[in-house]
Amino acid sequence: GPRDNGFKVVLLGEGRVGKTSILLRYVKGEFSDRQVSTLQASYLDRRLAVQDQSIQLSIWDTAGQERFHALGPIYYRDADGALLVYDITDYSSFNKVTKWVRELRQIVGAEICITIAGNKIDLEKHRAVPEDEALDYARSVNATHVYTSAKQNKGLDHAFLDLADRMCKR
Ligand code: GTP
Repeated sequence: GPRDNGFKVVLLGEGRVGKTSILLRYVKGEFSDRQVSTLQASYLDRRLAVQDQSIQLSIWDTAGQERFHALGPIYYRDADGALLVYDITDYSSFNKVTKWVRELRQIVGAEICITIAGNKIDLEKHRAVPEDEALDYARSVNATHVYTSAKQNKGLDHAFLDLADRMCKR
């Protein structure tokens, strides 16, 4: 729950979908086309205003490669929210999101706020995940769905503001 208006958010998703890029863009305003794979989870803080309140988000970036999957609970166990990221050009990365949702709902329960982010929306020409499927799925698991581009800085403020707003109302 809220600790002095601070919330923990965990970024989860398959390797290469853009979790680190989302975090670095959102907190530091940086982006690299050659972002290297995360081997060790770490976090960055960012303050934002939600309805006249100052909120602090501690946003945890995790390693997406399958060999790190078992470490997930260490990071999501006490999280208030999760941003589950897939790459809109890669259908298997969307399947991975459905696995994370099942795991989060099973282990953490209904109280964790979940946002599903279809990242790399700048590559819409190469979309492999049908929009109606993604939106229907998100609705069915009581998650918000957003589109983002860490590369073009699209959708990120909205994604974190919406998540913060829902965590505040929990
Ligand atoms: P792991 O650390 O392996 O879990 O990967 P990750 O999910 O943190 O992905 P990362 O941020 O390392 O990005 C993987 C690749 O995708 C990098 O080459 C990024 O530059 C690229 N990338 C990230 N976000 C975007 C985006 O919005 N659009 C495009 N076109 N490329 C992106």
